[in-house]
Amino acid sequence: MDEKKVMLSGIQPSGDLHLGNYLGAIKTWVDRTEEFDNYYFMADMHTITVRQNPADLRRRTLEQLALYIACGLDPEKNTLFIQSHVHQHAELGWVLQCYTMFGELSRMTQFKDKSAKHKENINGGLFAYPSLMAADILLYQPDLVPVGEDQKQHCELTRDVAQRFNSIYGDVFKVPEPYIPKAGARVMSLNAPDSKMSKSLPEGCIFLMEKPEDIQRKFKRAITDSDTENCVRFDPAAKPGVSNLMSIYSAITGRTFEQIEAEFAGCGYGAFKPAVGEAVVECLRPIREEATRILADKAYLESVYKAGAEKASYVANKTLRKVYKKLGFVAR
Ligand code: TRP
Repeated sequence: MDEKKVMLSGIQPSGDLHLGNYLGAIKTWVDRTEEFDNYYFMADMHTITVRQNPADLRRRTLEQLALYIACGLDPEKNTLFIQSHVHQHAELGWVLQCYTMFGELSRMTQFKDKSAKHKENINGGLFAYPSLMAADILLYQPDLVPVGEDQKQHCELTRDVAQRFNSIYGDVFKVPEPYIPKAGARVMSLNAPDSKMSKSLPEGCIFLMEKPEDIQRKFKRAITDSDTENCVRFDPAAKPGVSNLMSIYSAITGRTFEQIEAEFAGCGYGAFKPAVGEAVVECLRPIREEATRILADKAYLESVYKAGAEKASYVANKTLRKVYKKLGFVAR
């Protein structure tokens, strides 16, 4: 059991979890639970780089945990925790800021994007965020870090920082590999299929806790392609809208694109869109119901995040002690 490789990832509770988070991330974590020793956390400390409403942040953090469990992440087999409950993240985050270069942080595309979007609040945390993310990762000495394409640059920076630190102080950190799940799981916005599904495009985004009728409405209004063919065929370049719907349908039903093309041969988009909507509604129904049940059981939820924080702190602390010693901090 000790030989299992370590896998770690986190999602910021800055928006409600959606189908892209589920099919692109959480589902792949669930599928690989047995293979790895797993750490998954709510990255609440990262969210405050942008102003948050405190009540919403608290609700979303707990809802995210309930959804992780409802999606199938068994708390007995996955260490599920809230980032701010494990103080070693903040501590190592500070240390690693001192080993991350101003130039490196300036080159991060997410920093450039977010500072363009929030011109009134370009704060130090927004800039230094990748150092905290490096700490999140390196504390647990993971082998694999599953992330979306947009986080690849931060993972590469994490590797550079780890290597830099190791070259000065010896082998302190394992240098992790980013793990980008296959393209099929990359869910695009239903009404802008050239953008990733995200909460900032709510009409094209299916939230995991959303009501079935709202889900169905969004699918019926999904953009299909302006070709005259009106035929369900997988071709992401020429038919991004239909291909996205096919990817969603494939990820949920396990059917291949060929099978889906055969299933809907001669049907046109008008029949295909509600069929995908129906599959999504039925896939999310038990998840939503289970999450609602878990959210009502505050004592259970608390027992999960407390046990998770305890286990995570134990591991994180081992790494942090090693780092402090190497740096020359006097032992407590
Ligand atoms: N930065 C990630 C995002 O915005 C979330 C995150 C924070 C993360 N720390 C992490 C992901 C560590 C993987 C590993 O999506």
